[in-house]
Amino acid sequence: MALTADNLLKERFVKSAQADNAAAPYVLGESNTEAERLLVLDAVYGETSRVWLRRAGLREGWRCADLGCGPGHIAFWLAEQVGTSGHVTGVDCAKLFVNLARESAHQRGLSHALFVEGDGSAPPLPNSTFDLVYSRCLLSHLPDPLAVLQRMAALAKPGSAIVVEDIDCGGGFAHPESPARMRHLELYQAIVRHHAGDPLLGRKLPRLFRAAGLIEIHVEIVTPIEPVTAVKRLYPLTLAGLKPALVRAGLATNGELDALIADLHAMADDPAKTVSSCPLVQVRARKAA
Ligand SMILES: C[S@@+](CC[C@H](N)C(=O)[O-])C[C@H]1O[C@@H](n2cnc3c(N)ncnc32)[C@H](O)[C@@H]1O
Repeated sequence: MALTADNLLKERFVKSAQADNAAAPYVLGESNTEAERLLVLDAVYGETSRVWLRRAGLREGWRCADLGCGPGHIAFWLAEQVGTSGHVTGVDCAKLFVNLARESAHQRGLSHALFVEGDGSAPPLPNSTFDLVYSRCLLSHLPDPLAVLQRMAALAKPGSAIVVEDIDCGGGFAHPESPARMRHLELYQAIVRHHAGDPLLGRKLPRLFRAAGLIEIHVEIVTPIEPVTAVKRLYPLTLAGLKPALVRAGLATNGELDALIADLHAMADDPAKTVSSCPLVQVRARKAA
């Protein structure tokens, strides 16, 4: 399907997000709806992710791991960059996303992009093997991000690159500000914490990288803003995806959430509103040689 945020019908997202996601450990669940939301997420952050990965020295022949790879958007791009003299292994706990990634890699002729179902906290991959160990928006969903970072370092060859990008939901803006966006951020933080994650992980990443013994640490923060249409659309899509978990946790009612999702779509449709995404903190470093 061609990706533009606007070709993803609002009603379809809202309805299917209500229907699936039951009891998945990842707060946004494992569903086609979430796979499509992750396309929108990649439309928001993907360009800056690719720039950041290039700055980590990515080149032909590299062996790369992508933990919490989802349906594989970054993994496919990595595979194109490293060519067939390198390879990419994506790991995700969601069988559906792993299957989607495998199918898509096959269609793209990327036989050197492999996808494995597994826990990103304990990935079933060999130590000291990879030139790049990467993860985007996974660690903020896990209870012990330092342990995951240490595991990422163990997978890397000495001297190799470790790159993490993750959200910090304490920032971003709309102008004029939208009460629905503010409430959405409050609910996002509450439900991620309820699932043992940390919605403010972004700001903690530099300290975690130091604690993991990594060297040459570089940090940036990106907050994409219009005219990327996906920036605005990601808000209602995310809240729709969180709806089952929020209702289950007793943090909001269906009625409140439906009204908020409608307001967030109205915000997205309003050309007079300037809206930024939540900040994404990007960190790159090396494992000591
Ligand atoms: C916010 S999405 C990010 C996906 C992808 N990295 C991206 O940026 O497009 C988080 C991903 O982590 C996966 N995930 C959550 N918990 C996991 C775990 N314990 N082990 C492996 N994957 C996990 C989810 O299935 C989902 O695909």
